Amino acid sequence: MVLNPWLFILCNTAAIFSFSGTSPSSENHQSDSCYDWGVYDAKSLQIYDGELGKLTCPLFSEARYNYSTSLASGLSLLWYWIRQGQDLEEPIDFRLPDNRILKERDVVWFQPSAVNDSGLYICMLRNSTFCQRVAVPLSVLQKDPSSCVSSKMKHNKMMIPLETKGDLHCPDIEGYYPPSLQPSIRWYKDCQPLKDKSFEKEVIGDRIVIYIMRKDYAGNYTCIVNYTLHNRSHVLTRTTTVRVVGMPSKRKPVIHHPNKDQEVVKVSLGDTAELLCHVYFPFLMNSPTEAWWTVDGKKLEPFTTERYQLSSSFESTELDDRTIKILLKIMHFTEEDLKHNYVCFAKNNEGEVSSQAFLKLRVTYTMELACGLGITLFIVVSLVIVYHVYWLELVLLYRANFGTDEANTDGKEYDVYISYARNAEEEEFVLLTLRAVLENEFGYKVCIFDRDSLPGGTITDETLNFIKKSRRIIVLLSPNYLLQGTQELLELKAGISNMALTGSIRVVLVQYKAVKNTSAVKELKRACSALTVIKWRGEKASDLNCKFWKQIHVALPVKRDLRPKASCEKLLS
Ligand SMILES: *[C@@H]1O[C@H](CO)[C@@H](O)[C@H](O)[C@H]1NC(C)=O
Ligand SMILES: *[C@@H]1O[C@H](CO)[C@@H](O)[C@H](O)[C@H]1NC(C)=O
Ligand SMILES: *[C@@H]1O[C@H](CO)[C@@H](O)[C@H](O)[C@H]1NC(C)=O
Ligand SMILES: *[C@@H]1O[C@H](CO)[C@@H](O)[C@H](O)[C@H]1NC(C)=O
Ligand SMILES: *[C@@H]1O[C@H](CO)[C@@H](O)[C@H](O)[C@H]1NC(C)=O
Ligand SMILES: *[C@@H]1O[C@H](CO)[C@@H](O)[C@H](O)[C@H]1NC(C)=O
Repeated sequence: MVLNPWLFILCNTAAIFSFSGTSPSSENHQSDSCYDWGVYDAKSLQIYDGELGKLTCPLFSEARYNYSTSLASGLSLLWYWIRQGQDLEEPIDFRLPDNRILKERDVVWFQPSAVNDSGLYICMLRNSTFCQRVAVPLSVLQKDPSSCVSSKMKHNKMMIPLETKGDLHCPDIEGYYPPSLQPSIRWYKDCQPLKDKSFEKEVIGDRIVIYIMRKDYAGNYTCIVNYTLHNRSHVLTRTTTVRVVGMPSKRKPVIHHPNKDQEVVKVSLGDTAELLCHVYFPFLMNSPTEAWWTVDGKKLEPFTTERYQLSSSFESTELDDRTIKILLKIMHFTEEDLKHNYVCFAKNNEGEVSSQAFLKLRVTYTMELACGLGITLFIVVSLVIVYHVYWLELVLLYRANFGTDEANTDGKEYDVYISYARNAEEEEFVLLTLRAVLENEFGYKVCIFDRDSLPGGTITDETLNFIKKSRRIIVLLSPNYLLQGTQELLELKAGISNMALTGSIRVVLVQYKAVKNTSAVKELKRACSALTVIKWRGEKASDLNCKFWKQIHVALPVKRDLRPKASCEKLLS
């Protein structure tokens, strides 16, 4: 390292200062005897290239030390700097041509600054036994091409509420020139020159007055200050970003949730309960906005217990109205949790508001299930009752729409063969009532042996033949049925055995008159126990809509093509 000649000059002013000059780091040059305040970022300075810059030593500006008294007591103020991108700490060269960098009391002036001046500036106050130092970063920026500012420059910020008067000063120009001097100040909005006076805005010296703030007056206001002092001309550029905010209100926050008029928070035992605190803060200048939950009056802080979890979100509108949402999660909710008071609070400068959350246990799943089952059961029972009362009608309705006509497949000739006691009373019933209804009303092909058989044939063969060609056999039970000779017995046995063995015929038992002793004939007894017996209830049941005829109709085959009056007569002829 080459020793800087200025070092020795500086060393002379600070009597016992033994700066080696070869090592930049503070540890190596009596750091034990110099207290280092580190880098003072809050005072970091940004200057535009070619403009006047003023760097003040923070040891004095923060009123820690008084410059005059310090120097009077024998202390010296020394300056060093570390060039940007390097780590060598060196003394500042105050002997540049034209005093470009000038030390004046506790201030270093850059008149004007250059990009190469960027770096870390260190001021040190010391005597033989005392030493304190602090560093301030300085960056010299070039303006963006064809712009009046640099995007890297940190702007001042100002909020002006809508519809109000705004007074915008050119910031941070005090102390640069004596008050007697009247510099020229030009104003720009977003780098477009501003007229001195325009509708609702006026430039008055170093400030702009906006008489009524509008949304489109928001933007970057730049002032460029020129002045000449001691034959030297100086330039300062300052920018303020102006934001428009909501109309100034005198309103407390508004809690949207919880809202006891509108909602009850449903919770389930064992689950995570979620309580939302949703607060709207109307814009209030310089007002804190705060929202929080309390449980039984105690404010919940994040990470206090594992059972309560807090998460918050924050939104801000263009006009700076704010919305804060705080979600309180209660893990593994218990009955005990129901007994606590959960209150959401919100506060701004106008006051504090609160709202309590009301919790209610959700109807449990098992109860809902029981309810559902009950309804289902009720429907089933209702259906069963309906079915029992109307089953005949339902079956007939079904058959009329979906039943298949057996006649299409089995190749038989008769729908029904009627077996009855050959007795005057039964004969009359069969021929006048039963046959008439079956043939004329229902359209069945009915076979009645005594009517349809040809004279001279073998009774047995012909009977069996007829039964074989029939789909159903109606056995008309009456006390006489079993008393009368062999014909009935033959029919009965043939019908029952055909049904049992081949299934080609079905026996339909119709009780014309109650039979006391069915056990006399084994087949009949069995049939009676296996089959439903359709009971004739006398002439009062002659109406076609009565149960008897519906039962008969259901027992007989489905008849799609209802062409009445077809009988086996013409088949045999
Ligand atoms: C510094 O001390 C002098 C003399 O005591 C006093 O006049 C001056 O106002 C002080 N400056 C500050 C900034 O306190
Ligand atoms: C600034 O620094 C660069 C490189 O570090 C050098 O080339 C240039 O000459 C310097 N300019 C001035 C004005 O010192
Ligand atoms: C150095 O300065 C400190 C603080 O002002 C003072 O207390 C001390 O006496 C000074 N020492 C010498 C040797 O001047
Ligand atoms: C104002 O300046 C800031 C910072 O440079 C920039 O982000 C913003 O876009 C500028 N606004 C306008 C309206 O130019
Ligand atoms: C202000 O300074 C700029 C840049 O140095 C120069 O172009 C301009 O003429 C100056 N204006 C006045 C009024 O001095
Ligand atoms: C300012 O400059 C002019 C000419 O450049 C010179 O005549 C004058 O004496 C200077 N004034 C001061 C105070 O330096």
